[in-house]
Amino acid sequence: MTKASDLHHDRLAAEAGRRLHADAAINNRDPILAVLGRHLPASGTVLEVGSGTGSFSRHLVESLSAGDVLDLCEINPNFAERLRSRFTSNGHHPNGPQIRVYEDSVLNLEPSEPYDFIVSGLPFNSFEPDFVSSVLTKYTEMLKPGGYLSFFEYLFIRELTYPFGSKNYRQRVSAVAEVMSQYYKDRNLESETVLLNIPPAVVHHLSQLNGNGSSGD
Ligand SMILES: C[S@@+](CC[C@H](N)C(=O)[O-])C[C@H]1O[C@@H](n2cnc3c(N)ncnc32)[C@H](O)[C@@H]1O
Repeated sequence: MTKASDLHHDRLAAEAGRRLHADAAINNRDPILAVLGRHLPASGTVLEVGSGTGSFSRHLVESLSAGDVLDLCEINPNFAERLRSRFTSNGHHPNGPQIRVYEDSVLNLEPSEPYDFIVSGLPFNSFEPDFVSSVLTKYTEMLKPGGYLSFFEYLFIRELTYPFGSKNYRQRVSAVAEVMSQYYKDRNLESETVLLNIPPAVVHHLSQLNGNGSSGD
């Protein structure tokens, strides 16, 4: 049976993980962005999942052009409203991409066409392993052959949050790590460490094996 003190400590550990992820988005975004955007296509269709307040979205908007599509998926209604007023309120960006805000869970997204690039801002280590598995499957379904999925996490994130968590917490985080390493096995994985962050982050870029895309390097 789960003890009340375990639940309290698990909430602290999960919150520490989420907080680290959000702080990275706000305080350290430039070095992470530079690496996250490595496979951002010069033109095409792009999805950002978990756009939050839009600190990464801003960079995506600036990098894309008229004729491109940028979809922002955010489950939190307050953040979604903020994204709409920040990026779509005047409804017209003459030289920028078409921007659509989806206020929903990524699992409910049904895009009319697959994406060239997905950038995920979800803090995977804060979720249940089954949910992470469903999200990764959904990403695969929504990507074009040769498309890229990019996301970041902190180096040592598990080690940093473990001391706060109960045995259940550690088991959950280990199960998430296992789901992710299974996913990596069937794909090309490039991982880049971003030492300019405090703490250092690692950005992962994934593409299908035998996909028809090139790294562009
Ligand atoms: C760590 S934050 C990302 C911060 C963001 N990069 C920014 O600049 O503010 C993760 C975001 O994912 C959103 N989120 C969580 N679960 C989601 C889901 N199932 N579908 C879409 N967004 C989700 C949260 O509401 C939160 O805004």
